[in-house]
Amino acid sequence: MNIQVLNNKNGPTISKYIYGHFAEHLGRCIYEGLYVGEESSIPNVNGMRIDVVEALKNIDIPVLRWPGGCFADEYHWKDGIGPKENRKKIVNTHWGGVTENNHFGTHEFFELTKQLGCEAYINGNVGSGTVQEMQEWVEYMTMDGESPMSALRKANGREDSWKVKFFGVGNESWGCGGNMRPEYYADLYRRYQTYVRQYGSDRIYKIACGPNIDDYHWMEEVMKIAGPWMDGISLHHYALTGAWEDKGPALNFKEEHWWSLISSAYKMDELIAKHSTIMDKYDPEKRVGLIVDEWGSWLAVEPGTNPGFLYQQNTIRDAMVAAITLNIFHKHAERVYMANIAQTVNVLQSMILTEGEKMVKTPSYYVFELYKKHQDGELIDSYGDKNDTVSYTVSKKENQLTISICNYSLTSSEDLTFTLDAVPQFQEANYIAGEKMDDHNDFDQAERIRLLAFTNYEIKENKVNMTVPAMSVTTLTLEI
Ligand code: AHR
Repeated sequence: MNIQVLNNKNGPTISKYIYGHFAEHLGRCIYEGLYVGEESSIPNVNGMRIDVVEALKNIDIPVLRWPGGCFADEYHWKDGIGPKENRKKIVNTHWGGVTENNHFGTHEFFELTKQLGCEAYINGNVGSGTVQEMQEWVEYMTMDGESPMSALRKANGREDSWKVKFFGVGNESWGCGGNMRPEYYADLYRRYQTYVRQYGSDRIYKIACGPNIDDYHWMEEVMKIAGPWMDGISLHHYALTGAWEDKGPALNFKEEHWWSLISSAYKMDELIAKHSTIMDKYDPEKRVGLIVDEWGSWLAVEPGTNPGFLYQQNTIRDAMVAAITLNIFHKHAERVYMANIAQTVNVLQSMILTEGEKMVKTPSYYVFELYKKHQDGELIDSYGDKNDTVSYTVSKKENQLTISICNYSLTSSEDLTFTLDAVPQFQEANYIAGEKMDDHNDFDQAERIRLLAFTNYEIKENKVNMTVPAMSVTTLTLEI
């Protein structure tokens, strides 16, 4: 496969927020996964697992979305502040009907984002919350001066306001967030967002609830009615192996389900293209960002686990989904400003799995590690042979060129030649690869899939030749 790289022709910036994550009060994502409490025997700082925080910092997590998901539209933030022993216990009706003790609330979330060094993306409650409740939450978090909510925050031990970079006005308002029609939601969005006040100098980026998958009517109506009042609009699409009602297993799957999951991941390209065309009608300057704040593989839960906890294993197939999808986001960097893979720990296509004090990094984690150099890079124009099992990105940051390649063939390695406009110097190359299509990491074999040094390349003048194995993701960086 021959690819011409126009390394002097820089395209749009790949927003680092495309590498965002999502953590909901769902199963063992927040509790056990990220937060174990100060009294836990699992090493923690202020209740946050040290091992998980360190791992997430290593992939340069830029932003974390919280508290949901469907949970967001049932979440009443005042239940989660003040002394823990006084916090209200509620039922998490969406996710397993378990008791939620609200020990992880607003203060804990900002402690987590501080430890991670990432931005906060808060999702507000439109489905069952009032305008006043949303207004007061924003005031509680971001008001520095004197006000009833800043006084309450200070009484709860936090003097300074926090920075809320992103705020979502409702989640899946077409479904679990209230079963609304787009016209109704668009009007509600206009009303609720009015009270998402900008108190400090840090402007809050307001995100409207966008469509589910290919609901183009939703996009059209919400953009038409509420476009001028938003900074971003969301899109949700999960990769499935078949019908929603019949999710395939994460392990021991058939070859046809390798291909059906990948083909479902590729649907993202078409969805972004078609939704962007609608957005262009109302926002030709591309001021409004497309925020894919839920994506990833959604597979059957692991046998014997609570079906409401959405705990699934993560294989080299999921790594292919991650790499292909990130390449699609890069391609649409002009419109896609943020994306949040679902969900960080122990839920759906997670980065990390935990069991008590044990932790493993999933193959998907390593894709985020391999791809982190694309964050805030400029997309580089490249063209050449097409191949049915290869997806790639070339980007540039100052004088560093980063090439990432995903070869999702089950059987064949692939020879590639990248021809540049300059003679490069090699910097670094790493990869992950599977031998079997459901290769994964588990607590008894935590490093079956791990980052390895990639040596199968050769630089000859302005040409970079390489052979990437089947079922692999590779990143090579060059100085130019
Ligand atoms: O990520 C799991 C769930 O999927 C979220 O709570 C919801 O928004 C979506 O349907």
